[in-house]
Amino acid sequence: MERAPFMDSFAATQARMTDLDDRIRAEPSRFRVLTGERPTGRLHLGHYFGTLSERVALQARGVEICLVLADYQVITDRDSARDVGANVRDAGLDYLAAGLDAERTTIFPHSAVPALNQLLLPFLSLVTEAELHRNPTVKAETAASGRALSGLMLTYPVHQAADILFCKGNLVPIGKDNLPHVEITRTIARRFNERYGTVFPEPEPLVTASPEVPGVDGRKMSKSYGNAIALGMTEDETAAVIRRAQTDGERRITFDPVARPGVSALLTTTSLCTGTPPEIIAEEIGNRGSKELKRVATEAVNERFADHRRRRSALATDPDVIESVLRVGIDRANGVAARTLDEVRDRMGMHYLAR
Ligand code: TRP
Repeated sequence: MERAPFMDSFAATQARMTDLDDRIRAEPSRFRVLTGERPTGRLHLGHYFGTLSERVALQARGVEICLVLADYQVITDRDSARDVGANVRDAGLDYLAAGLDAERTTIFPHSAVPALNQLLLPFLSLVTEAELHRNPTVKAETAASGRALSGLMLTYPVHQAADILFCKGNLVPIGKDNLPHVEITRTIARRFNERYGTVFPEPEPLVTASPEVPGVDGRKMSKSYGNAIALGMTEDETAAVIRRAQTDGERRITFDPVARPGVSALLTTTSLCTGTPPEIIAEEIGNRGSKELKRVATEAVNERFADHRRRRSALATDPDVIESVLRVGIDRANGVAARTLDEVRDRMGMHYLAR
């Protein structure tokens, strides 16, 4: 089948997803997924329904996955990397509890893989300053940070290209805000290949199909908004967060995300946890008001994640488990990165000393 040329609009990307899904099903071994996140806090329901469950599904289909904890990306918009160790370990618990298997999936922080980071230098030579300044996500994040644009903030999409290309990842599951970064990664791969001979695939973005998960205030769930339900919360902590959710005085519960963001967010959360459409849940609650809605939502979250939380607590009793998952991941990533960097330097003619 003739493939359409790559287009960078979100709609065009979504249109290609079904086709991609079919290809993954047909030949899982052709894909190497590189996925990642910044270890900035505890993982929450937004991560679970947005990316984590999809990673587990890909793993189950036999797709090879590398999962990078982008710890250097933490300092793009904050002063300190102080909490990354705790955050990396906490994320590790959720990965394992959700069903990622460290034997099959390579989990590692990129700061522990020197050869990956060295790819940044040749990659930087392949993009212009103007291209970097044009990245809409970098612009938005810089504005949101209220800080001057740092060199790292400007160039982190190129670093992300190193995350993706060090293992020759060809499929990158992301939220739509990360599409510009996959786009620049494709550009870098193409330019490297043109200049030095083919080394890299041009990775395809896989935009997660699940809807944006709202936080308890109706805005996107995000730790920085203080509206998140963390996967690792206890049942009581979950109840407390939902109790504080801003609803309204209208007794009749209806699903209307525009006019009633708070009420609708709780309906969406309940729906994600139970599989029942939000309108039906609203109808069932009827005239019983926000208090009943909050009770229903709390119960749905706590039931949905009871097993996850049980597994998580069991894993947390032995710190060596996560430690050894990371060791295995780091070792494997270092081996892969060293081979890729060697190939890159070879193609560039930088192996000029007698070995
Ligand atoms: N930028 C991603 C985020 O917003 C995190 C990330 C870093 C990433 N490296 C990656 C995502 C590589 C996919 C592939 O969280």
